[in-house]
Amino acid sequence: MEFRHLGRSGLMVSEISYGNWITHGSQVEEDAAFACVRAALDAGITTFDTADVYAGTRAEDVLGRALEGERREGLEIFTKVYWPTGPGRNDRGLSRKHIMESINGSLRRLRTDYVDLYQAHRYDHSTPLEETMEAFADVVHSGKALYIGVSEWKASEIRAAHQLARELRIPLVSNQPQYSMLWRVIESEVVPTSEELGIGQIVWSPIAQGVLSGKYLPGQPPPAGSRATDEKSGAGFISRFMTDEVLTRVQRLKPLAEQAGLSMAQLAVAWVLQNPNVSSAIVGASRPEQVHDNVKAAGVKLDAELLKAIDEIVDPIVERDPARTESPAERP
Ligand SMILES: NC(=O)c1ccc[n+]([C@@H]2O[C@H](COP(=O)([O-])OP(=O)(O)OC[C@H]3O[C@@H](n4cnc5c(N)ncnc54)[C@H](OP(=O)(O)O)[C@@H]3O)[C@@H](O)[C@H]2O)c1
Repeated sequence: MEFRHLGRSGLMVSEISYGNWITHGSQVEEDAAFACVRAALDAGITTFDTADVYAGTRAEDVLGRALEGERREGLEIFTKVYWPTGPGRNDRGLSRKHIMESINGSLRRLRTDYVDLYQAHRYDHSTPLEETMEAFADVVHSGKALYIGVSEWKASEIRAAHQLARELRIPLVSNQPQYSMLWRVIESEVVPTSEELGIGQIVWSPIAQGVLSGKYLPGQPPPAGSRATDEKSGAGFISRFMTDEVLTRVQRLKPLAEQAGLSMAQLAVAWVLQNPNVSSAIVGASRPEQVHDNVKAAGVKLDAELLKAIDEIVDPIVERDPARTESPAERP
């Protein structure tokens, strides 16, 4: 495993981190979840990402138990707050009340006294940014989180939060956006602003939820047990990539991966890591063999010719519009 600084902070994270959205507490049984965490630890992954909302809070509980007994100082545990965790009108968003209540619930479920990074899962247009940042400052000053991050925030929102974080003397160090060969909406605005402010990207769905592994063939039913067959939640989320045009072009990447001596998933993860503003790529996995495959992307350099050949194939299906970085207009 290779390690990078999280933004301009002193915190080191593994280049490849492991996240448990959709899988733990939902798509996969507990023994598979534990086996994936074990595989991640054995491969040198030290950074784990979850959220209070995943699987209706069960994902944090599974991760907490899977990591129990590990040396806490050897791990970086990240979680998030914003999406609903209960039926009440205050069980969501970035109000002071919900932040203070949610961090306590997350720490209890994760079986830890602090998280390394506490992230605003989206921007909350119904709460003054000052209220949110002051609540985050209290979370940091009480020792419950060491660093603060955001997720899917626009460049202007990141800039405003960064200014307040400086005034409050708390470290706002990261943004967590979707980023892959197929989804590059951060490149024109979020990345330049983040570079200027010393904020690193911890990117999600680098394999486009499994699509860039090449296992989904155009015109054919998805493989059994894959995310596209998970009617509970996965199939809905992956559907945006499940078109014949996307799947056909992805198949054309196969010879490029082979020439580079990489699997398709490794090529996808290595691709996001070529961006120096990316601190870590968060991969998901429903089985340990996928972790074994994906971690081999750490430290891989892709040459300019290969990057150009990739662009020529995927160009018509790449999303680049910075307006696609957005948070709900109303609290969910
Ligand atoms: N901040 C946010 O709003 C946000 C949103 C989404 C995700 N995230 C974070 O990002 C993490 C990763 O997201 P993701 O799970 O969508 O990432 P991903 O790595 O793009 O996709 C992971 C899924 O792809 C399939 N897969 C992975 N490696 C494979 C391989 N080598 N060969 C074949 N299939 C493979 C598996 O699904 P199947 O086996 O089921 O097909 C796996 O669960 C999440 O766990 C979460 O921590 C954050």
